[in-house]
Amino acid sequence: MVEATRGPVLIFMFGATGDLARRKLYPALYELFRKDYKFAVIGMARRQHTHESYRSMIDRTLNPSADQRRRFLKRFYYQPLDIGNPNHFVLLKNISDQIDSQYHLKGNRIFYLSLAPRFFGTATIHLKKSGLTETDGWKRLVIEKPFGNNLASARQLNSELLKVFDESEIYRIDHYLGKEMVQNIEALRFANPVFESVWNHRSIANVQITLSETLGVGDRANYYDQTGALLDMVQNHIMQLLTLTAMEPPSQFDPEDIRQEKVKVLKSIRPMSRDNIADKIVRAQYKAGVMPDGTRISGYHEENNINETSDTETFVAARFFIDNYRWTGVPFYIRTGKRMATKCTEVVIEFKDIPNNPYFHKFTHIGPNLLVIHIQPDAGLSLKLNVKQFSDDGETSPVSMNFSRTGKSKNVVPDAYERLLSDCLKGDSTNFTRWDEVAYSWALTDSIVATWNSVPLDYYEAGTMGPKSSDKLLAKDGFRWWPLTRME
Ligand code: BG6
Repeated sequence: MVEATRGPVLIFMFGATGDLARRKLYPALYELFRKDYKFAVIGMARRQHTHESYRSMIDRTLNPSADQRRRFLKRFYYQPLDIGNPNHFVLLKNISDQIDSQYHLKGNRIFYLSLAPRFFGTATIHLKKSGLTETDGWKRLVIEKPFGNNLASARQLNSELLKVFDESEIYRIDHYLGKEMVQNIEALRFANPVFESVWNHRSIANVQITLSETLGVGDRANYYDQTGALLDMVQNHIMQLLTLTAMEPPSQFDPEDIRQEKVKVLKSIRPMSRDNIADKIVRAQYKAGVMPDGTRISGYHEENNINETSDTETFVAARFFIDNYRWTGVPFYIRTGKRMATKCTEVVIEFKDIPNNPYFHKFTHIGPNLLVIHIQPDAGLSLKLNVKQFSDDGETSPVSMNFSRTGKSKNVVPDAYERLLSDCLKGDSTNFTRWDEVAYSWALTDSIVATWNSVPLDYYEAGTMGPKSSDKLLAKDGFRWWPLTRME
């Protein structure tokens, strides 16, 4: 069960000068500090910094309106560290013991590895050898993705971590699980009988999950070109959205029960096989194009540090089936890509029509009921219904019932990293990925990679919603991607 504490804890921030720490982690820690969470932080990276210059760096990451910055920054310390050098970990132990007693942190420790994955194993071994993980308090390891690049490497990494940490102490981050509306999927489903009673193959025609991005690979070409959309987005974020949408209700509101139900979904997803592969998956890369705002975009091959012959996919669309009673025969379509027309994450539930419904024969503006879970940029729900127009012929028109978390309340919705750090401080692992989730998700991804040779790379123009083959994927089943919608 979850302990509802807010620390105290000493946070070891590996990769303290990196992009993620500066963009997300320090601003999130500031919000937690304001909410009275008790912690001190030691930042570590190869770069030389004094405590003061490190604090100035953090200061620049904070919102100009942050009014408690002086008290906040005083709790940050810096230790230059080379992950490969065990002596540096001995120095780290000395300074951490001092900070621990100065702030009465009771030996509680969070080790946050915001590092390139090749350092994960070495860092944990050195933590152990230096005695940093032998503590009277609790200890937790927070680890960023990618967790391996296939099942075998993920297993290897996991076994290295388990030499030092227990599974219950490992918090594998998938930042999508910190997003407001992702967390809301469970509430929507299980707190509302009106939805739960129709949440199955009898009433749902298909489910569509879209994570589209307008950005390209930016300065991450080296990582991305080795990774591609399948490993970067599908193996983790999309699988999390899919499992939350499809899981059975947990018997208790407990992290282990919830994660158990998600694992059952992953186990039930039909692995990809090569038969009729074009009916199931599309992989594509963007060519030059024009974004909706008129910006001209070069093709993937023209991006800095991308090999001219690279066949890495920047877009994936796929159809999955979940072979269990609830979802028999219901296609789950997913798509994700870079340089698409819009930045949007949405889950659309398309409901079946009533058999032999006379309304559908009579009226032209009628369409299926759609429940849209808007995850970003809007956060909310909309339900599309058909109502009668104010006209004599009784013709229907679509209306949308909206519930929005954006707009006025936007400022109070915590950032994903703030939620996840807060959960980790409290010891709530619900929104972190358990090892078996990672493993099943990799097994599925590996089954897709194994078909890659049979899936020709398709192309799409930057600034569009992907290649035509992605539309055909649904058209073959008599469906179509519903246009992404804004709530305003
Ligand atoms: C990351 C991927 O996990 O998620 C990036 O590595 C991607 O390639 C990012 O851009 C998208 O996250 P968000 O929160 O901006 O949708």
